[in-house]
Amino acid sequence: MFKLPLSILLSLFLSINSFNVESWANPSTDIKNTTGISPKSAADYIHAVIEAGRTIYSEVIVERLGVTIDLKATENWKEENTLLLPAQFLLLSSNTSNAKDIGMKYRLMSLWPINAKNGPKTKFEKIGLEETLKFPEKPFTKVVTIKGKPYFKAIYPDKAVTKACINCHNHHPKSPKTDFKMGDVMGGISIVLPLNGNGKNIAEEDYRIPAEVVADYIHSVLESDRQVYSNLVVNRLQEKNIVYASENWWEDNALLLPAQFLLNASDLIINKNIDLHFKLISPWPINKHNGPANEFERKGLKYVVRHPVRPYIEYREIGGRKYFQAVYPDFAVSPACVTCHNNHPNSPKRDFKLNDVMGGIVMTLPLE
Ligand code: HEC
Ligand code: HEC
Repeated sequence: MFKLPLSILLSLFLSINSFNVESWANPSTDIKNTTGISPKSAADYIHAVIEAGRTIYSEVIVERLGVTIDLKATENWKEENTLLLPAQFLLLSSNTSNAKDIGMKYRLMSLWPINAKNGPKTKFEKIGLEETLKFPEKPFTKVVTIKGKPYFKAIYPDKAVTKACINCHNHHPKSPKTDFKMGDVMGGISIVLPLNGNGKNIAEEDYRIPAEVVADYIHSVLESDRQVYSNLVVNRLQEKNIVYASENWWEDNALLLPAQFLLNASDLIINKNIDLHFKLISPWPINKHNGPANEFERKGLKYVVRHPVRPYIEYREIGGRKYFQAVYPDFAVSPACVTCHNNHPNSPKRDFKLNDVMGGIVMTLPLE
């Protein structure tokens, strides 16, 4: 399941075919016209990353460990030293991301919420949830104006993908609906993106969001999932001696390493054919394959180690298509990151501290 060769292939491909932004520099109109991403595509990327994290957490963590080592996911996970419920994983991750105040917001909700807080809060949300019941194959989207500012709003259906979803909700004392069936739409994931303009224009096609901004949104979801996973799953359960993260998580009936969580999410997204890629690299890699693979990655790592605030970015052309690429700093967000890397026999660096930059997240995004 842990497909390293894929990321290596991708890096090779990128290093052979890419050339620098200088070749189509002089930003003025050219880049402006090519760097924008439609709000619908931006929301699709963000949703794909949310869904990938949710799927890995539900299937590879909760379902597998429930069967193999009888580790349950329960609502009172803190007191009971269990795994968070999949919904709680998403809710905590979205709270983390929303608190960063970068403009994009997302949350999980339903017309039949177990937790009243997760009900629709606006007329748009109510209508959107009703529409996803009627058309469960696509998101409900609209440009709306709030206090003179335009926003793109999308609600993606959230379906009962496993028996556990329906069993737990149908039997939960606070659930207002008790007859969910497999495949039913149980709720929705709402994504809100701010747009530029005076709010008079409500045609989706007329708006574009700069690639840098879309990349920031996607990165925010990845980083929030990473924070929740490493702190509230790996670090918490390791400290209580309940379960450990291991490179050989499958054989060891263990938790995935945070790096494996992210790479598995990337693989799921590659399979969806939306051409969004991300991976982890470092100047001090435990696995040599995770060193910088080309000039762009070398420059990017150098840059984020020195300036761990903004990502290093380039616009590149690969096989006749224009791409935006960024290297974001990857921080030691949990004591588990530091302890494991400093003590790993293959780690070339053993003095990481909490919040240090440990490497970078490389993201590749196609431009329209
Ligand atoms: C073991 C029980 C359990 C399982 C399994 C479970 N849920 Fe939930 N779900 C909950 C609880 C409890 C909440 C409320 C969390 C909170 O306090 O915000 C919730 C929240 C939700 C919400 C937000 C609306 C609400 O009801 O508050 C949606 C949508 C949802 N779950 C869908 C799913 C889907 C889809 C699955 C399967 C992938 C799933 N759930 C699996 C218990 C469960
Ligand atoms: C239990 C051990 C463990 C924990 C916890 C852990 N890592 Fe790692 N990490 C590894 C291993 C092992 C690899 C190499 C995986 C591979 O073979 O590609 C890795 C890979 C990485 C890489 C890619 C470069 C490299 O070293 O190969 C980065 C960056 C990274 N981890 C950062 C982090 C951060 C940040 C955290 C906390 C959020 C974290 N790690 C938590 C063990 C761990």
